[in-house]
Amino acid sequence: MQSEVRARFRVGNAFYRPLSQVARDLGVLSAAIYRCDTGYLRVLDAMSGCGVRSLRYWLESQADWVWANEGNPELSTVLHQNLEEAIASGCCQVTHLDANRVFFECYNHKDYYDFVDVDCFGSPAPYLNTSLWATKIGGLLYLTSTDGRTATGHAPQSSLSTYGAYARNHPAAHEQGLRLLIGSVQQQAAAKGLGVEPIFSLQVGQTYRVMLRLIATQALTAENYGFLGYCHHCGDYQTVAWRKLGRVVCPHDSHPLTLSGPMWLGVLHEQLYLRRMELLAKEWNWLKRVQLLQTMQAEADLPPYFYTLSEIGHRGRMDIPKRSHLIQALQAQGYRASPTHINAQAIKTDASLLTCIAVAR
Ligand SMILES: C[S@@+](CC[C@H](N)C(=O)[O-])C[C@H]1O[C@@H](n2cnc3c(N)ncnc32)[C@H](O)[C@@H]1O
Ligand SMILES: [Zn+2]
Repeated sequence: MQSEVRARFRVGNAFYRPLSQVARDLGVLSAAIYRCDTGYLRVLDAMSGCGVRSLRYWLESQADWVWANEGNPELSTVLHQNLEEAIASGCCQVTHLDANRVFFECYNHKDYYDFVDVDCFGSPAPYLNTSLWATKIGGLLYLTSTDGRTATGHAPQSSLSTYGAYARNHPAAHEQGLRLLIGSVQQQAAAKGLGVEPIFSLQVGQTYRVMLRLIATQALTAENYGFLGYCHHCGDYQTVAWRKLGRVVCPHDSHPLTLSGPMWLGVLHEQLYLRRMELLAKEWNWLKRVQLLQTMQAEADLPPYFYTLSEIGHRGRMDIPKRSHLIQALQAQGYRASPTHINAQAIKTDASLLTCIAVAR
């Protein structure tokens, strides 16, 4: 028997990673807040594995109804056992369909869900568009990619097919993974006349997760969906607008930039929602999550990249500065600066890399 917060369950032959608990915890918190705001929560757990998420949404987020779908019928027994109580109380159904069939069934019956969780292996491409069809306007969509190679620019050909974007490698490439995912969904939503707003974006190891709110109006603009340029010569970043694509060079040294994109260049998280998740995490005594949620709030609207401390040390030919000291020193000079949840040895700031080096000295 396994346990995770309030859930007790068997794993059997299902894929279950205890390390992914942080993603489940943030999912549960955001679903609980949605339930609190709307008074109702219907969850579609499209790739449920052993059903741990379904169980937690029901027990901890107070979901009124959970549809646990798992493509592999061999997991039927363990899934039914784990969700026995929820099924018995009329709050849950279990199916073994391909997730895309489930999404289109929802659409076909005009049965849109408040909260759709798509916890796939590898590339999310087959579900980026289709999961939108099952999500209620105003509802939340929780997407996953575990294809770190593609997200970090080690397989640009594959990022073209997954995200319709050419991703290159650079020091902040893990953040790019989140931005490619959001950007691609934003573009697919825009094609349907809709939009998405990031609630939070979480990167841990080789896994990228984004929680998005589906909204009834287009949110894609030429400013929030564009390109990130990296200068290999000086190590600094620029965002590059579509209309400037023809003349992109580094403003510091006129070297050509390595471009990645298009991708989402807007906020990574919705600060107010994170603040409410933080308060709930405090109430539930989830102290590690409180800390994470605070870091995420601070980084939410900073530029779409980060500088690693080793890059600052290396380029400034000095010892690697202490992160907290550098952040304080930048803030003292009037810049915005914060840690990033993505890399414990990096900072996000609106100062240039040259300024960071000067301030670190
Ligand atoms: C990463 S695991 C899910 C883990 C689970 N959500 C958790 O948090 O422990 C992905 C699951 O999706 C199932 N799966 C893969 N492709 C699917 C598809 N197209 N439709 C439905 N289920 C699918 C796999 O059998 C696997 O159990
Ligand atoms: Zn440069």
